[in-house]
Amino acid sequence: MIELGKKVVVTGVPGVGKTTVINGAMERLAAEGVAYEAVNFGTFMFDVARKESLVSNRDEMRKLGKDVQKRLQQAAASEIAAMSADANIIIDTHSSVKTPAGFLAGLPEWVLRELMPDVVVLVETDPDQILMRRLGDASRVRDMEGARAIAEHQEFNRAVSAAYAMYTGCTIKIVRNENFLLERGIDDLVDVLR
Ligand code: AP5
Repeated sequence: MIELGKKVVVTGVPGVGKTTVINGAMERLAAEGVAYEAVNFGTFMFDVARKESLVSNRDEMRKLGKDVQKRLQQAAASEIAAMSADANIIIDTHSSVKTPAGFLAGLPEWVLRELMPDVVVLVETDPDQILMRRLGDASRVRDMEGARAIAEHQEFNRAVSAAYAMYTGCTIKIVRNENFLLERGIDDLVDVLR
């Protein structure tokens, strides 16, 4: 039996497979009659950015000025917070976003205040696996970077997530999504969601 109104934030560097793990977990839970709604934070931001003709694809958003990205974050957080308080929600987003000006917190204070997550999940795997997944995904305009830079981004995500735990009292869960072991990652996320 899960409590109602659970908010689970799922994060990970681009291409780590967070959406794949979320979809697998939702499918598993639906078969057990546990209802979750999954929302993609970037899609809420992109809807506003596209209406204002700021970008033509979602991968351009991380290149926008810091203040513009902050405004888009605020708009997305308010819309998600306005969803039913009783709904169990998975928020697919980023602990930090790599911008030309440096790492931007994905869940700054004005976003956390709206979402107040119960858990922040970090989906991780080995940097070379992430690199290969990015190279194999022609549907996105990925920033090309080496395994070392991907490792640094994952380290930064852990560090900034500690601040999210301090601010909200949420727990931080690391879920590994390794090649050939997707089902294990799904098992771990299901345990968090139940
Ligand atoms: P978003 O849409 O979340 O972009 P993303 O991180 O690039 O997410 P993806 O969905 O492309 O990657 P994924 O990790 O979910 O991987 P996937 O499951 O597809 O965000 C878009 C933009 O919005 C951001 O760039 C940012 O600008 C903005 N944004 C979002 N949140 C924000 C915030 N809070 N603040 C500011 N800006 C924000 O899998 C990738 C590939 O790997 C697939 O081909 C898949 O088949 C494969 N794969 C997955 N798992 C495995 C496995 N176990 N073994 C082998 N292959 C696997």
